[in-house]
Amino acid sequence: MTDQSPAIRPLVAGNWKMNGLKAALDEALAVRDALAGGTDNGTDVMICPPASLLMVLAELTRDSAGLQIGGQDCHTAASGAHTGDVSAEMLKDAGASAVIVGHSERRADHGELDRLVRDKALAARRAGLTAIVCIGETAGQRAAGLTLDVVRRQLLGSVPDGATAADTVIAYEPVWAIGTGLTPTLEDVASVHGAIREALATRFGGEGASMRILYGGSVKPDNARELMAVANVDGALVGGASLKADDFLRIIQAYGA
Ligand code: PGA
Repeated sequence: MTDQSPAIRPLVAGNWKMNGLKAALDEALAVRDALAGGTDNGTDVMICPPASLLMVLAELTRDSAGLQIGGQDCHTAASGAHTGDVSAEMLKDAGASAVIVGHSERRADHGELDRLVRDKALAARRAGLTAIVCIGETAGQRAAGLTLDVVRRQLLGSVPDGATAADTVIAYEPVWAIGTGLTPTLEDVASVHGAIREALATRFGGEGASMRILYGGSVKPDNARELMAVANVDGALVGGASLKADDFLRIIQAYGA
C-alpha cells in the first residue's frame, strides 16, 4: 500500500468553496508565511479561494515559493455575455495557476455533466491553467456496486483527449465523503485510485502514469497521513480543514513526508 511513485510530486489543494470574507485572508497568509521557504517535504500546496478573494490573495502570495492559487470553476468561453461567470483566462490573469472543474457541488447545484466539465478542462488548458478534474460516486452508486463504473465513465467523459500530467490533475472525491466526516476504507481508496491509474495509463500512456490523482472527502489532520500512504494517492483536495491554517498545515506536513 505504500509504493507511491517517487517521481510524482504530491499536491495538497485547499478548496474554500463559498467560504471566506476578507478577514479569512489571514489564514491564507499564515499558510504562506509557514511555507516561505517552500515545503520541506516536496509537496506542492495550493489554496482555491472564492473568486472574490482570488486576485488579492494571488497578489499577496506572488513571491511565495510554497503557495499557489487556484480557481474553483471556470466558464468554457474566454469572455462574453455570461453574467456571473469567470473565464479561465480571467483566473490566469488574476494570478491563478489552476482551476477546479467538475466538483460534485457544481455537478449537483448547477447540473454540470461530463461533457461540460471536459470543455471547462479544455478552457483551462487554453488559458494555461492546470485543470483539477473532480470525479466520484454517490452513496447510492456505491451501494449498488457501481463505484468503478461511475469513476471510469466520468474519467472518460470529463478528461479531454491529449491531457498531460502538467495540465491535468484528477481528484477522486466520493460524494458521500464530502463534508460528512466519513471516508472510504484504505482498501477502497487503493482500489479506486488503482483503477483510475490504470485507466489514465491506458488512455494517456506515460502522461497518465504520472498524472496526479488526489483523494478528497473529509481529509483531516488525523487521517491525512494514512490516506497519503495509499498507493496512487498523490495528494489531497481538502475542503473544511483548509479553512484554518493550523489544520491545513498539519495536513500538508502529513503529505509527502
Ligand atoms: P471536505 O471537502 O474536505 O470538506 O470533505 C472536500 C471537497 O469537497 O473538495
